[in-house]
Amino acid sequence: MTAALLSLRGVRFGYPSRPVFEQVDFELHPGERVALLGANGVGKTSLLHLLVGLLRPDAGSVRAFGRERAHERDFREVRAKAGLLFQDPDDQLFCPTVLEDVAFGPLNLGMTRDAALQRARSTLADLGLETFAARVTHKLSGGEKRLVSLATVLAMQPEVLLLDEPSNGLDEASLQRLLDYLEHLPQAMVLVSHDARLIERLANRAVLLQDGRLTEALLHRHPHAHAHTHLHAHLPGHEGEHAHTDGLIAPLPALPGKAVSKDR
Ligand SMILES: Nc1ncnc2c1ncn2[C@@H]1O[C@H](COP(=O)(O)OP(=O)(O)OP(=O)(O)O)[C@@H](O)[C@H]1O
Ligand SMILES: [Mg+2]
Repeated sequence: MTAALLSLRGVRFGYPSRPVFEQVDFELHPGERVALLGANGVGKTSLLHLLVGLLRPDAGSVRAFGRERAHERDFREVRAKAGLLFQDPDDQLFCPTVLEDVAFGPLNLGMTRDAALQRARSTLADLGLETFAARVTHKLSGGEKRLVSLATVLAMQPEVLLLDEPSNGLDEASLQRLLDYLEHLPQAMVLVSHDARLIERLANRAVLLQDGRLTEALLHRHPHAHAHTHLHAHLPGHEGEHAHTDGLIAPLPALPGKAVSKDR
């Protein structure tokens, strides 16, 4: 088996007011896209933060890219190679405009200003966000912030992606574009998500956090062909024939007198 890119060994961790991990072992290998599953508050975000040194374990060790990491200077190198998408985009974005925010990481890696801006523009274009370059970051919508946050991570061309709820707040079209894009990336990833479609499309391994411990989880796929109820909106006068995507909750268009129906 290949050497792990990132690993936690015997990690115990807690906040002053709350123990989170009793004993966690984890390895991420090249080619793996690991879904990190678990209920709200079990410590998924904390685990990602431990991997890149934003939090430090109370016991146990963190290894990354072939070396044990313990000090801030070790983790600076880790953070350049393992791109973390924060759960809250407001933790990720801090520059006045989108272009500056996306160029910030490449600049920080030592690229010239021109090269960093070029990298930022091409990353935005890859994500279909080229028209966002001059937008004021703090005025973006929640979903727009999520996509721009992802651009800031990808612009650094990290070796590993740690994505904390990457599809949160995205509309259906943006979600599908995101999945198409991530599916073709070569990097190993840890995917924290409660979105079954994202996990089904992207993950090739899953682990479950529960009661302070991490265990391997089963990933299973099955064809979906049962009748189910879902809620969506129709344009007035278009309640008749139309195609449905399985599991889709269609966006509700702002329509005068929209008709909302339950279909089976
Ligand atoms: N800064 C903090 N100080 C104290 N407790 C914290 C802090 N951050 C998180 N916690 C607590 O630690 C536990 C783990 O939090 P964490 O954010 O890692 O969970 P999570 O699995 O990512 O949850 P979610 O699915 O809701 O994002 C939670 O009970 C949370 O309340
Ligand atoms: Mg979280």
